[in-house]
Amino acid sequence: MTPALAALTWPKTTARLSIRPATADDVEATWAYRRLPEVGEWITAAPDSLEEYAAHFVDESRLAKTLVVETGGQVVGDLMLALEDAWSQTEVADQAKAVQAELGWVLHPEHARKGLATEAVAELVRLCFEELGLRRVVASCFADNVGSWRLMERLGMRREAHTARESLHRSGRWLDGLGYALLADEWRSRVETGRQVTPAPVDRDQRHDWWGVVLEARDARALGRFYAALLGWEIAKETDEECSLAPADGVAYLACQTSRGYVRPVWPTEPGAQQMMLHLDVEVTDLEAAVRHALDVGAELADHQPQDDVRVMLDPDGHPFCLYTS
Ligand SMILES: CC(C)(COP(=O)(O)OP(=O)(O)OC[C@H]1O[C@@H](n2cnc3c(N)ncnc32)[C@H](O)[C@@H]1OP(=O)(O)O)[C@@H](O)C(=O)NCCC(=O)NCCS
Repeated sequence: MTPALAALTWPKTTARLSIRPATADDVEATWAYRRLPEVGEWITAAPDSLEEYAAHFVDESRLAKTLVVETGGQVVGDLMLALEDAWSQTEVADQAKAVQAELGWVLHPEHARKGLATEAVAELVRLCFEELGLRRVVASCFADNVGSWRLMERLGMRREAHTARESLHRSGRWLDGLGYALLADEWRSRVETGRQVTPAPVDRDQRHDWWGVVLEARDARALGRFYAALLGWEIAKETDEECSLAPADGVAYLACQTSRGYVRPVWPTEPGAQQMMLHLDVEVTDLEAAVRHALDVGAELADHQPQDDVRVMLDPDGHPFCLYTS
């Protein structure tokens, strides 16, 4: 055990769990779940045999950062608490030593989805901040490891990085990675107020990955105003030639563009007639009310209605759009 962990009292107990430093005697109990393919899929090493696993497990430096999680006297998971230095400039490096920790976790699948991993990691985070006095905890996982990043988000950890195809999985695939962190003051405020303050998202005006759908129109301004009224979106730009509007959040938009000689599409499709080429889908919570509203602002109900939970509507220029409930 590292001196910092040895100085704490053990075990740590929570409502359902007991957490203590691992010993060489925990090899078989942890191998029981670490050998399973659904666990091995996501963790750093997946040895083929107990012997190979044991050699790695009892390594001093590994044991020193491993805790085991027990319930009813049975080992059901393990945790990693690896103290590390923060990055710093050389002159202040002393102040950055062992001020943060990288965390890790594995839970026996037999005990999954009962909140036990959340309970164990919440305690791990508490002891990092409250007992070890750390200033930051970090953790990372493959972006495809949904269970792991959901666990981090449940505990209020902030997603700080989404790396593109930088981590090599043993299947040979380069996968995206996610990096999360939590600062001591963020954790304290969450515990004290019972509220999580979500960090401000990146201002969408600063983003350069907007994307949209542009509809041809007899009159861009008129069609744009129709969709603004239908969807409750604000018009961002409006001229005789084009009109664009966007929802209150996100980086998607809808635009209309005046097209000389515009031909209204026919739906359902008829041979030789102008086809729609695309249609818009709009989720609604109350189909009847949404249809009434669409009619009020100038839409028509299409004659052909193939699905019960969808209403096909036509905008004033004849583009079909669907109102649907999920
Ligand atoms: C990552 C891992 C520990 C998460 O396990 P988990 O079972 O999802 O986590 P928990 O035990 O906290 O259970 C939480 C889930 O149970 C549900 N749940 C059911 N009863 C609950 C209760 N009483 N309290 C809290 N959550 C409960 C939660 O809603 C949650 O489900 P959700 O994510 O769909 O919302 C586990 O998948 C694992 O060991 N994976 C393999 C190893 C691994 O990937 N390690 C990390 C490498 S980076």
